[in-house]
Parts: sequence; structure tokens; C-alpha cells
Amino acid sequence: MKQKEFIKKISLFLILPAALLLSSTVLAQHEARIVINADLGEQQISRHIYGHFSEHLGECIYGGYWVGEDSDIPNTRGIRNDVVDALKATNIPNLRWPGGCFADEYHWMDGIGPREERPTMINTHWGGVTEDNSFGTHEFLDLCEQLDAEPIIVGNVGSGTVEELSKWVEYVNFDGVSPMANLRREHGREDPWGVVYWGIGNENWGCGGHMTPEHYAILYRNYATYARNYGDTRLRKIAGGANVNDYNWTEVMMRTIPHWLMWGLSLHHYTTDWYNKGPATGFPEYRYFDIINRCYDIEHVIRRHMTVMDRYDPQKNVALVVDEWGTWYDVEPGTNPGFLFQQNTLRDAFVAGISLNYFNEMSERVRMANIAQTVNVLQALIHTEDEKMVLTPTYHIFEMYKGHHDATLLPLHLETGYYEFEGESVPALSASASKKDGRILLSVVNVDPRQDSELMVDLRGQDVSDFSARILTADELDAHNTYDNPDEVVPQEFNSGRLSNNELRVTIPAKSVVVFEIN
Ligand code: AHR
Repeated sequence: MKQKEFIKKISLFLILPAALLLSSTVLAQHEARIVINADLGEQQISRHIYGHFSEHLGECIYGGYWVGEDSDIPNTRGIRNDVVDALKATNIPNLRWPGGCFADEYHWMDGIGPREERPTMINTHWGGVTEDNSFGTHEFLDLCEQLDAEPIIVGNVGSGTVEELSKWVEYVNFDGVSPMANLRREHGREDPWGVVYWGIGNENWGCGGHMTPEHYAILYRNYATYARNYGDTRLRKIAGGANVNDYNWTEVMMRTIPHWLMWGLSLHHYTTDWYNKGPATGFPEYRYFDIINRCYDIEHVIRRHMTVMDRYDPQKNVALVVDEWGTWYDVEPGTNPGFLFQQNTLRDAFVAGISLNYFNEMSERVRMANIAQTVNVLQALIHTEDEKMVLTPTYHIFEMYKGHHDATLLPLHLETGYYEFEGESVPALSASASKKDGRILLSVVNVDPRQDSELMVDLRGQDVSDFSARILTADELDAHNTYDNPDEVVPQEFNSGRLSNNELRVTIPAKSVVVFEIN
């Protein structure tokens, strides 16, 4: 009897906590549901949403791409091969250059001709370093050809002239006999490059001249007029746009600039707390939550700009070009504050995943975006140090999402739980779906650091029978790749979930990005 009672007690002692643990595990999962209408897609997601921005800033151009022809680092005409190969593996669609703030103090003629004869200048915005102009127009366009990416050249409005920009276009694009085309030939390039995308200044409300929107809009009309079409190259000109939530800037541009003169209007949105940026690694959870919360805000900001644009351009002829976006933290201790070098973690991968999901969703108007900045600066895809190179978690998102390029956006309905932190909450899941060649790509981000999401995907409008998936996750939110440990955060095969009767049931693990290919 005594023994029986003992067993009863001990079982309660063991079973009760186990049951409680089990129920709390069950409670610790979100329930989520996605409905995808695979037969209702109309809108194409431009591959240019997956674009890049690289400025003469810190070690982005120098060291990041350009090492010079005499370097021991394997290179093609001075451009490092490892970086080119890595970016090609993401199908990089475009590259914006030379700035950023640098663009409005760059004089392109300083960057052509024999390198040893090129004048120097001070890069006043970024560390006050001497720019030797060894990477100029020819080198940039060679880089784009090696990458098989479309160049986007940003002209100098802040401290340049209409004539200077006009001549740059002629130098780059004119095929006949002319002073600038002849000069290009003298410098070794017979054929014009045919560059289509031209930014007319950068942040002209700030580093690009501290102009009022009214003043810039008039200047834009002037500069854009003399940036001519040559031959078959029809220019797509991009007006310098608003900073984050400056909707008045967008309003004045849309009202003042003839729409046929403006292919796109830009917008810059950095995910940061400008007054207290915080470290890129070793951050407490409140900082993690804050960054994710700010990242989600990009949707509202873009939608409000789109509302203004819709008023003047209901046909959506003018593209919204988010030509600078990404995270911005304190620089790494001991590095030049003007070089904006920051580590890149799983948190950054989530910012990339959520932002790209939104850009897809709003691709009817958002037809180009450029992450800042591809190599060694801000939310970089690649870090280099001398001959070493490492791919960041953000790189892996761009690689995992490349199936969305030029695919058809699928209407998606998402019901998700919430990641709650100290009385505030954000959606735990972000998702986007597209279709190309009959296969559906579904990208899902779960930002909740603790709770998995029990997801049911209801696939309608197409019979599917098969899927594969990859996951990007890690134990810590600030997990990152280093030269010594480059595979801390890399995509893995994700062999989980069950697909039957056009329903996919799968657990999306806490703090992860999962990309499905469904056939
Ligand atoms: O990307 C860094 C800087 O951020 C760019 O030069 C400028 O356009 C923006 O303010």
C-alpha cells in the first residue's frame, strides 16, 4: 500500500510538470494561415527590386571591388573575382553608383583617362580621405559588365552643372562622332555602353545641396532635359526623392515634374534609430524588437508615398525607387566612423526578408530598390579584408529570394500570431509568394525569437504535389559569419512539413527565414 502511494506521488511529481511543460510548449507556438491564389497573379515583380547600391565610401569600392590590376588578389582588370562571382550567384540585377552623398561632389571627368594622371579629391562626406579616382566610369561599367548587372549612374546636381551631366551621358551612350564619344574612344572604349538608368542627384534635400523641394524640382527639369537619348538607348531618369516620411517632397515632385521626364522617383528609408543607433552585435532584446518594429514601418511609409503618387499618376507610370534601404548601426569599435562598417547578423537577414517581401507586395509601384551598400558598408552582403571574403546573412537572403526576380506576384492572405515584447507587438510572420514557370516561391520570415509558428498554407488555383525548402536560422539573434567561421549562418535544407490536398502544413521555427519552392 505504502509502495503504491509512493508510486502515485512520484508519478504526479513527474507527470504533472511534464504535462505542464507540454501544454506550455503548445502555447508557445503561434497559429498561422496563408492563402495563396496561384491563378490570380497579374503583377510582375521587377528583378530590379533586388538591386544594389555601392558608393565611394569606406571600403566599398576600394578593397571591396577594386584592388587594382597589380594586386595579388585574383582580379579581372583590377576588379576582384571572388566578389563578382559571389554577386553573380545572386543574379544581381543592377548596381547604383557613385553615391549617395558622394555623387553630388563627384566630377566624372576626374575619373577617366590614364589612372596615374587622374586628379585627386577629398571625400568630404566619408572620412575625409583622399579619393584618387582610380575607379571611374570605365571601371564601374566594366564591373557591371562582369556582373551582368544594369548600371545606374547618379549625376551631380548639388555641385555640378547641367553641361557636365549632359556630357557624361554623351560620353557613355553616344555612338557617332562627337567630342565626348571621341574622348571615350581615346580612352579605349569603342562602343557606347548604353546606360539606361540615370539618377538626377541624390538626397538633394540634404547632402545633395540642402534644397527645397520646389528648387530641386525645377533643377531636375533642367538637368533631365539635357540628359539626352542617343540611338536606341531610351533613358530612365530617376528624380531624387524623399527622406523617409517627407510626403510633401513627393507631392512637389509629382506636381512639378512632367511625368514623361521622370521614369522613377526615389525614396530613402534606413531601418535605424537615428538618435541612438546601437551596436550591430551583442544587442539586448529591446533593440532587436525596435529594429524589427521599424522595419515593419517601411510598409506604411511606402504606402503613404504611393497614395500621394496615385493622386497625380493613377496609371502608375512613375516608378517608386527605394534606392537606399537597410539597417544602420554604430560602426564597429576601432573602425573609421566615416566608413560605416558594421557587422551583419541574423537580425539583418530578417530586415532584408521583411523588406523584400513588402517590395514584392507593392511592386506595382515599387519597380526598383537598392540595398545600402553591397560590400563592407552598412547592411552589406559581403565583407572583405585584404584577400579574405565572407558572405553575410543578408547575402543569403538575396540568394534564397532570387526566384522572385521577374516572377508574377501571387495574391497572398496572411493570418499570423504576434511577437510581443514589453506590451508592444509586431506580426510574427511576414510572407510573400510569386510564380514563375509554374513553380511557386513562398518566402516566410518568423521574427519571434522564441515561438515557432504552426503554419497552414492553403494553395488555391493550381494543383501542387511536391515541395522543397531551405531555412536560414541560428541559435542567437546576433549570429554572424566571420572569416574564421564563415558558415555560422548559412541556408540549410529544410526537410519538414507535409503537403497533401493542396495544403501545406509546416512549423516555421522561431527566428528563421524559410523559402519554399512548390510545384
Ligand atoms: O548610404 C550612406 C548614405 O546615406 C548615402 O551616401 C546617402 O545618400 C544617405 O544619407
